[in-house]
Amino acid sequence: MDTLDTLKARYLAAVAAAADESALEEVRVAALGKKGEISALMAGLGKMAPEERKAAGAAFNALKDEIDAALRARRAALADAALEERLRSEWLDVTLPGRPRRQGTIHPVSQVMDELTAIFADMGFAVAEGPQVESDWFNFDALNIPPEHPARQEHDTFFLHRAPGDNRPPHVLRTHTSPVQIRAMMGQGAPIRVIAPGRVYRMDMDQTHTPMFHQVEGLAIDRDISMANLKWVLEEFCRAFFEVPSVELRFRASHFPFTEPSAEVDIRCSWQGGQLKIGEGDKWMEILGSGMVHPRVLAAAGVDPDQWQGFAFGMGIDRIAMLKYGIPDLRAFFDSDLRWLRHYGFAALDMPDLAGGLSR
Ligand code: DAH
Repeated sequence: MDTLDTLKARYLAAVAAAADESALEEVRVAALGKKGEISALMAGLGKMAPEERKAAGAAFNALKDEIDAALRARRAALADAALEERLRSEWLDVTLPGRPRRQGTIHPVSQVMDELTAIFADMGFAVAEGPQVESDWFNFDALNIPPEHPARQEHDTFFLHRAPGDNRPPHVLRTHTSPVQIRAMMGQGAPIRVIAPGRVYRMDMDQTHTPMFHQVEGLAIDRDISMANLKWVLEEFCRAFFEVPSVELRFRASHFPFTEPSAEVDIRCSWQGGQLKIGEGDKWMEILGSGMVHPRVLAAAGVDPDQWQGFAFGMGIDRIAMLKYGIPDLRAFFDSDLRWLRHYGFAALDMPDLAGGLSR
């Protein structure tokens, strides 16, 4: 039989030479496993005389501990090396540029929302938001459209079901962004200057209508805001948005329950060979509804109409996107056709801003 010293030297060498976890495990079993060499020595202690057993027991235990410690140290070293190797082989250069052919594009509606947000932000308008599932009070009543008002029919509203027996008025999918006026005024009072871009829903479907579309609401309330301010803001917006040196707007008297007086606004344009030009020509294209916010609307939102007044407007985002980027069919906006998206989409990293240019 080997002396304990040779035994120890042999096992420590085997541990050091073990190249991986399973080789190391074999060494452990050979030495310290149930049938291992050291375990066999320990089992022999019982047959020794008491004096001899005491000395041998201590020596065996020391040997066992030493081999055990060597096994643990080697196991930890192997695990570290394996991790190092993984980190090295799975290393990824996150600073590499993307692959341009696989890049997605920004949808024209998102692009136009970013553009108009940049333009109105420059004029001091913050962005306000409201829910798409709206109570009929916010969508209608607070906007001076009581239950019997004919405007309710014109909105082709989607109603949400109530549980049977629940007789409260049903919620609706908001038919316009105007309810955000109410929410914004209730939230922050006057003075206030906000736009509210977002989705709206009406039961309608043809070449120029889809059941879901986008509007942007504008609201400016202060002590002495007038239609003149409205006119300037809208002209400034159209000039910046359509990226032309000048535009001409026409205010046509109209009626909305939530504004008094009300006006629809047309922009001067020309159609030549299917090509639309904004700012010149002898045609007019309607782009939005607007007016001075009705005192009842202010009151419903908790703003004192004797102290505050201002204008509001609502504009179709899809419509102005079609006009600006020459997109003929509204329905294609929501088809998710990759060829269409690649053609009409915008580069993801070009955020519109007034200094750098809107649509580059
Ligand atoms: N909410 C109207 C619609 O969806 C648009 C509108 C008209 C909004 C006049 C306004 C406004 O804020 O003053 O048809």
